[in-house]
Parts: sequence; C-alpha cells; structure tokens
Amino acid sequence: MVGMFSKAADFGVDHPAATLACSAFAAGFSFMAYYHFSGPSIRSDEGTKTRNFFSLSKGLGGLKRKEVTHEWKDYDKTFTQSEGRGISDKDHTKDAVNTFYNLVTDIYEWGWGQSFHFSPSLKGKGVAPAEVAHETRVADILGLKPGLKALDVGCGVGGPLRTIAAHSGAHVTGVTINEYQVQRCAMMCEKLGIENVDIQQGNFLKLVPQFEEESFDAAYAIEATCHSPTLEEVYSEVYRLLKPGGKFVSYEWVSTDLYDPNREEHVSCIDAINYANALPEMRTWRQTTEAARKVGFKVIEERDLAISPAGEWWSRLKVGKLQYKLNHLVISVLAKMMVLPKSMVDVHHMLVSVANSLVEGGERGIFSPMYMVVLQKP
Ligand SMILES: C[S@@+](CC[C@H](N)C(=O)[O-])C[C@H]1O[C@@H](n2cnc3c(N)ncnc32)[C@H](O)[C@@H]1O
Repeated sequence: MVGMFSKAADFGVDHPAATLACSAFAAGFSFMAYYHFSGPSIRSDEGTKTRNFFSLSKGLGGLKRKEVTHEWKDYDKTFTQSEGRGISDKDHTKDAVNTFYNLVTDIYEWGWGQSFHFSPSLKGKGVAPAEVAHETRVADILGLKPGLKALDVGCGVGGPLRTIAAHSGAHVTGVTINEYQVQRCAMMCEKLGIENVDIQQGNFLKLVPQFEEESFDAAYAIEATCHSPTLEEVYSEVYRLLKPGGKFVSYEWVSTDLYDPNREEHVSCIDAINYANALPEMRTWRQTTEAARKVGFKVIEERDLAISPAGEWWSRLKVGKLQYKLNHLVISVLAKMMVLPKSMVDVHHMLVSVANSLVEGGERGIFSPMYMVVLQKP
C-alpha cells in the first residue's frame, strides 16, 4: 500500500499534465485524509487552528516564497553530514537553526501539532494525553506552582509552554531563536487566554543581559538544547539565570551505549537524523552530565525516558507514514502548479525521509530523544 503511494508520488512529479488533471482530486482527498487521520496529533483542546495548505501557499515561516529556495540551499549546505562527524561550521549553527525553523515550523504544525517533541506512547491512549504526560512531568519535577518563575529554553510555538503554564500556575517565559515562532506562540497564548506567560525572541547561547542573572526559580528545555553547538554553552547560560537552588530539567537527544561508531548502518542512521533535524552533532548520553557538572550544576537525576517499559516514542511515525506520503503527493502536485514554493517539496521530503531513520534509531535502541537530566544550581 505504502509502495503504491510512493510510485504515485514519483508519477506526479514526472508527468505535469497528468498532475494537473488529478490535482483537484488529490487535494480534496488529501484534505479529507489530513483532517481524518491527523485529528489526534493536534491539540484540539487548545481550540486553535493549525497550519493548512492555504497558509503554506503564501510562503513558509514568515519567509516569502522567493526566499524559501535560498534558505533551503543554505540549510542543506550547512547540515549535510557524513561519517558521524557532525557539522564543521559550528559558528554558523544558530543562524542555520533559525533558517531550519523558518522552513519547518508551518510543516511541523501542519503535520505534527504544536508540541515539537516526541513522547513515550501510552497504551490505549492517543497522542495528546501522551504529550501532556511528557510535558507535565517537567513541571512536577521542578515543583512549579503559582508565584514561581520558570524559563522555557527553546519554546517552539509553545505546545509544552501552554500545558506547563496552565498545569502549574507558574509564570513561564518562553525563548526561541525564531521570530516566526514567537508570533505563532504569542498569538495562540492570547487566543487561549493564557496570561501567565511571556514569549521572547532570543538566543539561548546568550541569555544575559536580555534576562537578569539569578532571576528564575526554574528552567526546562524540551528537545531544544540538541541545537546548541556544545552543551556547555547553553547549560552555562541557563545556570547564570537560575537562582541558587534552582532546578533545570532537559530532555536531550543522545546516542546510547548500543550505538557503535564502527557500524556503518548506525553511523548513517545518526547522520540522517542530525541532517534532518538541524543538529550540529549527536551527543552521547555521558556528555550531558559531563557538560552539566563542568558548568557547576549538581546532577540530581538522569534517566532515559525511552527505555522499556516506556511505550515506543516512534510508533507515531509508523502510524503516520501513509498520511505523510499523501501529504507529499499533494505538496509535489501543488508545487508543480506553482501554488506552493518549489523547495517545499525538498523540505517536506527531508522530513518524511528521516522518519525511517528515527524509527530505525528507536527500534535499534541506538538513539533517544528523551534522555532526561535533572540539574540543580548549588
Ligand atoms: C524541536 S524544537 C522544540 C520546541 C519546544 N520545546 C517543543 O517541545 O515544542 C527546538 C526549539 O529550540 C529553539 N532553538 C534552537 N536553537 C536556539 C537558540 N540558539 N536560541 C533559542 N532557541 C533555540 C528552536 O527555535 C525551537 O523552538
């Protein structure tokens, strides 16, 4: 079945005339499929609409249509990786990560939802409760409550930020490098009437003086510090902002002890994950606490939340395969018709292709996107 859609996608790209003829049907069918299959992936309880084909046609992530191709080329050049070496130009990381989120933010929202992270699946439950459980765990570990101030390091469009602010009653400041995400996040908070939040554009590699030293009771980062050129850089900035005794929880992307740098299939799997997720390199799980101790943190707890009996975090990628193929077919067709920017096909292809590497990394147990570290400033 999946092979059939793959062939259809190739056909759509190679035969523009036939493409035009079937586009109306494909678009209509895919719209139905999208709304039908993706229901649980969108936090419908938030009451906000996510992106759709119409909004994507204007450009991506605040980029105008013309800018998409240029930005895509820049991204592709920076993050293409081989032999497990990571990227060579680490100084350029921050800007290239910003470019990445200009390109993918709308597509993530469209195909995944407003929480840009994985969660261990919960038996018999849908995506939303699994995401909420993964997010509220952070608030509970930090002991967040009304009167406390927390920092969300790399807040995306704020799926976790809204859950945590609503769940805990604490004041949460979200910071993200990407201006477009700030707009999306602020708009959704406002629409939902969540007032105990503040969203700012900023670089987590340089949080002072934008924020005052020792001004936060707690901080957390959900699948965000993986974008830092080194963990020391982002951890030391968070350390400066925390009050003495303040805790920091981070969900890190790491390779596990099962990863073998001498096995070609392991290395190419991790290279593919790095490339399609704007990661300058993949850290080992040991590097997380090493970096934390180096900058002065005390390690309270470290745990791979992906390890059994946790439900598979990658199952959602498997279930979504058919939907991604359908989306890709429609994007290819609409790009041919010049309704969507051309490079969107490349961006979407990158995101769809990496799903296989992520599933492989999860099934082989060589990679985890949820190595949890709980750190405290003495
Ligand atoms: C995978 S997303 C996770 C977003 C959010 N934590 C969530 O779970 O929905 C990673 C986030 O890190 C942010 N980020 C990456 N590099 C950054 C930097 N140097 N400064 C601030 N934010 C950054 C990105 O803009 C993006 O919002």
